[in-house]
Amino acid sequence: MRVKRRGDAPFKLRSTVTAKATRPLSDRAAQVAHVAQAAMTPLLVLYGSNTGSAEAFAKRIATDAPAQGYVVQLATLDEYAGRLSTNGATLILTASYEGQPPDNANQFVEWLDTLAAGDLSRVSFGVFGCGNRQWARTYQAIPKRIDSALEAAGAVRLRQRGEADASGDFFGAFDEWYAGLWADLARALGKDVREAPSGNHLRVEVVKEGRSTILRQGDLLLGSVIENRELVDMGSPLARSKRHIEIALPAGMSYRAGDYLAVLPRNHQDNVTRALRRFNFAADSRVVIQSANSDLTSLPVDHPVGVEDLLFHYVELTQPATRAQVAQLAASARCPPEKAELQGLIDEAGYSERVLAPRVSVLDLLERFASCELGFAAFLELLPPVRARRYSISSSPLWNDARCTLTVSVVKSPAMSGQGLYHGLASSYLAQCEPGARIALAVRPSNTHFHPPTLPQTPMIMVCAATGLAPFRGFLQERAVQAANGQSLGPSLLFFGCDHPEVDFLYRDELATWEAAGVVSVRPAFCKAPQGGVVFVQHRLWKDRADVVELFQQGAHVYVCGDGHRMAPAVRETFVRIYHEAAGATMAEAERWFEQIERETGRYVADVFS
Ligand SMILES: Cc1cc2nc3c(=O)[nH]c(=O)nc-3n(C[C@H](O)[C@H](O)[C@H](O)COP(=O)(O)OP(=O)(O)OC[C@H]3O[C@@H](n4cnc5c(N)ncnc54)[C@H](O)[C@@H]3O)c2cc1C
Ligand SMILES: Cc1cc2nc3c(=O)[nH]c(=O)nc-3n(C[C@H](O)[C@H](O)[C@H](O)COP(=O)(O)O)c2cc1C
Repeated sequence: MRVKRRGDAPFKLRSTVTAKATRPLSDRAAQVAHVAQAAMTPLLVLYGSNTGSAEAFAKRIATDAPAQGYVVQLATLDEYAGRLSTNGATLILTASYEGQPPDNANQFVEWLDTLAAGDLSRVSFGVFGCGNRQWARTYQAIPKRIDSALEAAGAVRLRQRGEADASGDFFGAFDEWYAGLWADLARALGKDVREAPSGNHLRVEVVKEGRSTILRQGDLLLGSVIENRELVDMGSPLARSKRHIEIALPAGMSYRAGDYLAVLPRNHQDNVTRALRRFNFAADSRVVIQSANSDLTSLPVDHPVGVEDLLFHYVELTQPATRAQVAQLAASARCPPEKAELQGLIDEAGYSERVLAPRVSVLDLLERFASCELGFAAFLELLPPVRARRYSISSSPLWNDARCTLTVSVVKSPAMSGQGLYHGLASSYLAQCEPGARIALAVRPSNTHFHPPTLPQTPMIMVCAATGLAPFRGFLQERAVQAANGQSLGPSLLFFGCDHPEVDFLYRDELATWEAAGVVSVRPAFCKAPQGGVVFVQHRLWKDRADVVELFQQGAHVYVCGDGHRMAPAVRETFVRIYHEAAGATMAEAERWFEQIERETGRYVADVFS
């Protein structure tokens, strides 16, 4: 038996369970109902999360749990590998990455694979998955895997698995799943059903003096910017800013070519100013936040803090409002026409078209509907904590192991909400970091196969568009250093999609130098200056397919990086067609061959940005 039982409370079955009370649950689940206890019930909330979404949902549940009569433990899945509690319930919130577990859930998933039927017969659980349908074949792979593995090991499912799709109404899907959670848990565990949490856990007191600044960094450390320069000809009407940023890493932090740098950003000044104005604060106003669950909130509590500091560093100001939030604003609107208009945004169609698609934020709505009476505490509670963003490192440690570079596309354009300019949080923050600026960051490992092959003699085929070039600059820099050290290199092809040769052919001179040194053969495609029918990178791939086939036959590893919406699927489809033609296979055979290459050999690996 691999389950460690925690605590001594007897695990008794509830003797009478009404049909009504057990309606959402299976008969089996109903059997786990405990004797109603006045005491608090243990609740384990575990998350698997790389970029913080599943973690934020887990925190939300953990924050509300005490008011529902639970003693809560919040932890990563890996911290509980091999030791799920048989007392109370376990809720699991997790993402998937290329069908694999997030970094802090690997051991847990491995452990589940070792379990036999019946091993977890006294564990009660519920699973919620964060995923993205753009990864069609592995959508929700890990939540599904955990959910069925727990069931197979005999654990009792207290609630049907829920799922949120980051390419759709992500937060709304969580709200929907969360809405009935406490009632279902209470019924299953034989507890009293309590009022759903109102969400008002915070009290904000405005203070006139004293100020302390808190920087919440988790495992992130401070690096410093060495250089920050523009890579694009910003004089062109086609220009979209892309920055080359060199960073000195904190002592002891190391990386491999292909890894990511996680960066904790801050909000853009424009949005902070808008929020200050809406809540009638001056830039130097300070508040003290008090929270019923100060351990779990992501805000600095119990001491004076600058409002501007709070708005810059702790909450995301530009996330689209959820339906529940729109409903809350509608309820708070004092002016009847505004209330009616807000109510029109709550139904499925109104919300999808007029809030979610144009990414209208709570702040946008508060500005647009001046009669909404939302307090600052409630506003803070509605906003998710600031999330670190990942950037592919665009250098190699063989160039400099104490420094790395990023290649960042700056998200800045007229806001789809129609309210001012949209500034991407992290990219606009990085874009304005002057040399010397300190940045909270950490290296995160990439997919096992997304590194240059161990042997420099192994050929590489790299396919990318725009800043998808970032990791490949690192790969090629590594090979250039190896060549300079006298090592022989295998051939490499770089297929690179840009807008225009004179505008955004990133690192053009450097690539030309490496090409002259025999490190790489560069095959660009310019969508705003097409040549010979080549518009996008997949067209160039098809045009040069003879070289691709030859290099693949020599054992090349294929890497794809950048846009996951259109480029990566189009490139994949082109590779399937190339094989179909070269091998004389049917398209179905070519697809099967390709899936096997992806799954079993690691010789085709895509690392996409969204
Ligand atoms: C593994 C990985 C590696 C990555 N590597 C790189 C890299 O090397 N270089 C790089 O540049 N990026 C990279 N990215 C993307 C990067 O992590 C960020 O997602 C990107 O920089 C945007 O983040 P942001 O904080 O600036 O924007 P956010 O504040 O997160 O905003 C982005 C969101 O705003 C939406 N949006 C865009 N324009 C508008 C508008 N006008 N109105 C309303 N909404 C809008 C977008 O659709 C998107 O949903 C990588 C991503 C991943 C997952
Ligand atoms: C490189 C990458 C790979 C991903 N792979 C998958 C996948 O295989 N299946 C899926 O459902 N979602 C996938 N996603 C989407 C994430 O799981 C989703 O954005 C999730 O909300 C992230 O949660 P987190 O912030 O807690 O890590 C992927 C996202 C990225 C950036």
